[in-house]
Amino acid sequence: MDDLERLADAIRRADTVVAVTGAGLSAPSGVPTFRGDDGIWERFDERQFAADRFRRDPAGFWADRVALERAMFDEEYEPNVGHEALAAMGRDGNLEAILTQNTDGLHGDAVGAGGERPSDGDPDAETGTTVLELHGNSRRVRCTDCGTRRDSDPIVERAAAGELPPTCECGGVFKPDVVLFGDRLPDAVFQRARALARESDAFLAIGSSLVVEPAASLPRLAASTGATVAIVNLEPTPCDGLAETVLREDVTAVLPRLRDLTTA
Ligand code: APR
Repeated sequence: MDDLERLADAIRRADTVVAVTGAGLSAPSGVPTFRGDDGIWERFDERQFAADRFRRDPAGFWADRVALERAMFDEEYEPNVGHEALAAMGRDGNLEAILTQNTDGLHGDAVGAGGERPSDGDPDAETGTTVLELHGNSRRVRCTDCGTRRDSDPIVERAAAGELPPTCECGGVFKPDVVLFGDRLPDAVFQRARALARESDAFLAIGSSLVVEPAASLPRLAASTGATVAIVNLEPTPCDGLAETVLREDVTAVLPRLRDLTTA
């Protein structure tokens, strides 16, 4: 039995399988990753997009955010075979929850929840798979005063046309509906992610460098409560040492094969 077959066997035997995913899962769809050779943080200074910059200088924040949005989401992205394989595992009853750090909405598209999946972690009606967007969703903005949510594209265009910062009818400033560096994760999301990691008896970390909290601590938490941990990532991560299986392979090669093996 090779590593992938052993992992498929552990998944078949598990009651609760949970996955945490990162930018490496969306990279094959064309969405840039954050770290590594041509990562976003090699091209942009992440401090420009932090919560304290938004509070201190919302106009300057939004001027930089337009450039970031164009670099990250300059075309319509589609879920790739990795997203589809995880959605299929959910429909098979072999994946309880996807805890994603990605804000591109592609898991929601693949699972069928569409890009508007709120980060409240309710299981998707059709598939029973929870998609928990740990860092929010870049397809939306939210007014910091009245809380109203809007599609982000037209607001980004208004900012690009010089409305800095873009404001809501109530006079409040729009903020991308994502967790900025320095923001606290919504407590309900954080607690639900930890509960799912604790509950899991198989935990997959896929396409993430696992250097940003809380994602970085979830594999450790799962392992501490007895879960079998597997990591699928092209580069080493700080959690490799606690994983039974480390697959240094492309998500588009591994995940469809894993799904097939778990239904064999
Ligand atoms: N298959 C497998 N792994 C891949 C692939 C692929 N096709 N492409 C890239 N990877 C791996 C890279 O080797 C890298 O280790 O995916 C990982 C992506 O790591 P990051 O770019 O750090 O992205 P992520 O872990 O999601 O970052 C976490 O950091 O900046 C914040 O909020 C941002 O959500 C993001 C968080």
